[in-house]
Amino acid sequence: MPSASRYALAAGLACATLSWASPADEARPVFTPAEIRKILSHGPWPAKAQPDPTNRVSGKRAAIDFGEHLFFDPRLSGSGQIACARCHVPEHNWTDQLRRGSGMAEVDRNTPTLMNLRAQRWFGWDGGADSLWSQNLRPILDRRELAATPRHVAELVRNDPQLSCWYRSSFGAAPSPTDDDAVLVDVGKALAAFVETLTSGYTPFDRFRDALARGEALPPGTYSEPAQRGLKIFIGKGGCESCHSGPNFTGGGFFGTGLSKATPRGRPDPGRHAVIQNMLESRYNLLGAYNDDKTGAAAEHTRRAALEKTAPGEFKVPTLRNLVLTGPYGRDGSADTLADVVRHYSGIDPVRLHARDGRPAQPLNLTQREQTDLVVFLESLSTFANGWRPDAHGRCQLQGGSRKAEGGSKGLPRAARINFRLSPFDLWVYSRGCGGCFSLPLTLRSSR
Ligand code: HEC
Ligand code: HEC
Repeated sequence: MPSASRYALAAGLACATLSWASPADEARPVFTPAEIRKILSHGPWPAKAQPDPTNRVSGKRAAIDFGEHLFFDPRLSGSGQIACARCHVPEHNWTDQLRRGSGMAEVDRNTPTLMNLRAQRWFGWDGGADSLWSQNLRPILDRRELAATPRHVAELVRNDPQLSCWYRSSFGAAPSPTDDDAVLVDVGKALAAFVETLTSGYTPFDRFRDALARGEALPPGTYSEPAQRGLKIFIGKGGCESCHSGPNFTGGGFFGTGLSKATPRGRPDPGRHAVIQNMLESRYNLLGAYNDDKTGAAAEHTRRAALEKTAPGEFKVPTLRNLVLTGPYGRDGSADTLADVVRHYSGIDPVRLHARDGRPAQPLNLTQREQTDLVVFLESLSTFANGWRPDAHGRCQLQGGSRKAEGGSKGLPRAARINFRLSPFDLWVYSRGCGGCFSLPLTLRSSR
């Protein structure tokens, strides 16, 4: 076919598609300069991050390896059966697809992903920990999770030749023979060094955002029109980005949205309101002896927490990255799909929630079409490219004080050897961007 008529045919097809699919309200949105500034504020991705000054092994290779071993090691638990990876499963984007996590017993809340925690200020849905390493101690000691004691963890690290070798290569000295708490805290710090490295990948939204930043037009079909319309709602009348702000789609604040309604043991979950005092009294907080930042600067937010104004039922604003892999949603896991979450927001006034000014609320009342667009946009914040690979650093051998790794992946706990595979069906669903019509999450399979 001569090229001119081929173009004519292509143009004809395009017009036919457009006239079929684009009544005025469905057209590709045009973004104003103010909207473009908002869109640019959600990147670039991945965001730059510095080592955590409160953790002296943050960013250290040996500690990252040690932390990864600990993460998959069930011997850390009191019963010897439950590892962190029981609930934070790598194939499920470091969560478990359950409404509520379950270790020795079921816990009250949904297991959050461990991606993109680096540079957050508060940890847990309630922000009950002021550092990533002190957060890691909560599940170790919680009777429903790993149900261990400082003594149990310290003895394990002291007596296991591999773990004590990893400890020495990370911290430069043998684990203290008498101070259980110091060894426990260092285990939390090695786990934090590992967890910090988990970052979600570059998404269709990021590609769109970066093209806008460069002032380039994307080839048609690269970022779907429903996704762009959903984005416009997200930064506009939806008021979403007043809480879900910045490259990680969370400003780190605490709010009540009414999304989660579960009442564990018959009482409403009080959230942030109930944990501040405990956090301030904890010997593991940043005001205590285990903070490695001796300047005190990194403890500023802990000092200010006593003045925080909170109301019962407020929770940390979660990241919105990689949501297609982390359902069910909400602090209590009661929303099965993103469509359920968006339906909830459509019935409330997210803008007033954020403003907290007591002015009358006006429910968003999104149309069915707008709700679908918002879901498609939320899906476009996900990617299946998982940067994490099971480590291959093998066994630890100390030689003249420095570590030598040997033996490929042989020394790894079995749970860590995973190949990511996605079925053609999953890819098809995702590439269609058919928001709201499928019950996600999709299935990632491991080779176990
Ligand atoms: C029984 C399931 C379960 C196990 C086992 C478990 N976690 Fe969690 N994890 C959760 C739940 C549920 C939360 C939310 C806690 C809350 O808000 O009260 C959470 C929260 C977290 C957070 C905070 C995430 C955020 O967004 O602030 C980190 C970090 C974390 N866990 C790390 C770990 C580590 C490290 C281990 C192993 C020592 C571990 N978890 C074991 C279920 C689990
Ligand atoms: C006032 C602050 C605020 C506003 C505005 C807001 N959110 Fe949220 N969002 C939260 C909080 C807090 C949670 C956790 C709520 C819970 O489980 O109780 C949350 C949870 C979510 C979740 C579930 C994530 C997960 O991993 O479980 C999604 C999806 C979401 N919001 C999307 C949106 C969208 C879309 C909008 C705009 C229509 C929006 N949010 C507006 C604060 C806010």
